[in-house]
Amino acid sequence: MQIISSVAELRACLAGRTGIAFVPTMGNLHEGHLALMRQARLHGDCVVASVFVNPLQFGPNEDFDRYPRTLEADCKLMEGLVDIVFAPTVREMYPQQQGIFIELPQIASELCGASRPGHFRGMATVVIKLLNIVQPQVAIFGKKDYQQLHIIRQMVAQFNLPVTIVGGEIVRAEDGLALSSRNQYLDPKQRMEAVQLSVELQGLRRELMQGHADWDALQSAACARLAARGWEVEYISLRACDSLEVAQSVMGDALILAAAKLGVTRLLDNIEVCRAD
Ligand code: PAF
Repeated sequence: MQIISSVAELRACLAGRTGIAFVPTMGNLHEGHLALMRQARLHGDCVVASVFVNPLQFGPNEDFDRYPRTLEADCKLMEGLVDIVFAPTVREMYPQQQGIFIELPQIASELCGASRPGHFRGMATVVIKLLNIVQPQVAIFGKKDYQQLHIIRQMVAQFNLPVTIVGGEIVRAEDGLALSSRNQYLDPKQRMEAVQLSVELQGLRRELMQGHADWDALQSAACARLAARGWEVEYISLRACDSLEVAQSVMGDALILAAAKLGVTRLLDNIEVCRAD
């Protein structure tokens, strides 16, 4: 496994190669990332992963400074799964042209975008840079960040980028908590409580699949239950899987997405709901 930090060196190393499958990450890897890397191997002969904590996608009061940077441990985990690790510095990624961003559609201001203005703009900007640098045939993104995946698919279509975007399933801890690098901010008591977000989503899915039609009532009750347990719920929203437009009921394939804070830790989760009738 090669570890490369310069764009020029990576380009030279990948020149003329086809069959590149790419997994962008911000490091501090867990089993969810490693599953994406295993999935990448099914799509390409050469698996490239990037490790880069992208300052553009963090707001001024967010966790950019304390985001765990664990490159050495990450590289150990990637050994045998990945052929090339691209781990640039901020200076290497953004030497110039600050102020040039990808402009995004309305959906980027909803859900997570409502509380994190600029987040998806910064994310999309680094992703298009990474795709241009690596030029993979396939790139894999986790479905836990479903809105991110949706925006990336739209961006790739809009800019005719020659890459296939593949979604990787959410990997969960034994109790059901969706794996995330931010889970490590939770103290032991919060970690026990954290599973409650996925418990609520499963409960909502069950109700919808059993034909409970009043989504607003279901959603308000779930928010109230979480609030009573000490959560600060940002949103629980029912959306169409393909467009992420608001859905009032499960007519086609839909998705319940949620973001909520436990103490200072912001957790995301989502669950697909397909009503068979
Ligand atoms: O999902 C992430 O880890 C990041 O948003 C990504 C896609 C690597 C861009 O920085």
